[in-house]
Amino acid sequence: MHGEEQKWVDEAIQTNWVSTVGANINAVEDQMAEYIGVKYAVGLSCGTSALHLATKLAGEKLYGQAKPNQGTLQGRKVFCSDVTFDASINPVAYDDGEAVFIDTEYETWNMDPAALERAFELYPDVKLVVIAHLYGTPGKMEEIKHICDAHGALIVEDAAESLGAKYKLNGEWVETGSLGDYNAISFNGNKIITGSAGGLFLTNSKEDADKVRKWSTQSREAAPWYQHEEIGYNYRMSNIIAGVIRGQIPHLDEHIVQKRAIYERYKEGLADLPVKMNPFDFEKSQPNFWLSCCIIDEDAMAPMVRGERDYLYKSIPGKSSPQEILDAIAAFNAEGRPIWKPMHIQPLCA
Ligand SMILES: Cc1ncc(COP(=O)(O)O)c(C=O)c1O
Repeated sequence: MHGEEQKWVDEAIQTNWVSTVGANINAVEDQMAEYIGVKYAVGLSCGTSALHLATKLAGEKLYGQAKPNQGTLQGRKVFCSDVTFDASINPVAYDDGEAVFIDTEYETWNMDPAALERAFELYPDVKLVVIAHLYGTPGKMEEIKHICDAHGALIVEDAAESLGAKYKLNGEWVETGSLGDYNAISFNGNKIITGSAGGLFLTNSKEDADKVRKWSTQSREAAPWYQHEEIGYNYRMSNIIAGVIRGQIPHLDEHIVQKRAIYERYKEGLADLPVKMNPFDFEKSQPNFWLSCCIIDEDAMAPMVRGERDYLYKSIPGKSSPQEILDAIAAFNAEGRPIWKPMHIQPLCA
């Protein structure tokens, strides 16, 4: 926190805009749309709600409006990033679709374009791809967009972790959150800037922005009474939370510089060990360095097994395992976590 957050929260309270309307929400939407380079941003309660409405909107565009008690993706497969947080892919199930997980490449740890191309050969009817930029590192979007265009598929871009990360698309630097047909970011407490919660749906289409804004306020139609013609959600951003986000926005670039310094410090400090930091494409991307991660070289791995809740490892001199390292740093009161467990081996998706 920097101080400005308090000022905007106080102003919301003093002016009595303690609601899901107010100047802070408008400011967050306008400032973030401008930063990311999209025409419209819609303030929502969290990144998950932004992803849900993005996924639902894509489903409706592709397959038409569903009945109120049915999801727009019923009976449809959707290609999804595999190594990601489950919030990326849960909205597919909220709308009754089936996620098909696409393998991950080694250069950025994101969706592998070659695997995506192969998936379209196996399932040519699929028309929707949900892609996340893992740990703030942009994926291979040029290739992925090319493949999706060739197959007439829409993209939901999950930029929850990558706000402020840039990608060189057709020779131009653009922000993540502007690369899909429907895009989402998050202001969760652990993100590069935060409101404690909050998220944005991002688009260049006024019609889509209006639709998502309506859905997020219980689909109340523009009538003098409570008129409802579509299923609705209580997903709008709070003006108090927007006050915290508004105070954080001027510090986004500074947070990225700090995160980059952390990444480089680890890289330098770990240089003599048999580990590799999370990689990125220097020429085509500028990550926001949200999370610094490392993997252990295969020949330096000590044996380790994981069950659904517990684990077992063997200590071997000169070698180590993720869980042994996490236990060792926990002894110094330092927090570490395993890299996301891939979705295709989650019991939820089995
Ligand atoms: C990749 C990814 N997608 C979606 C989300 C969901 O965002 P939120 O927590 O704001 O709902 C998160 C983080 O929480 C995330 O890391």
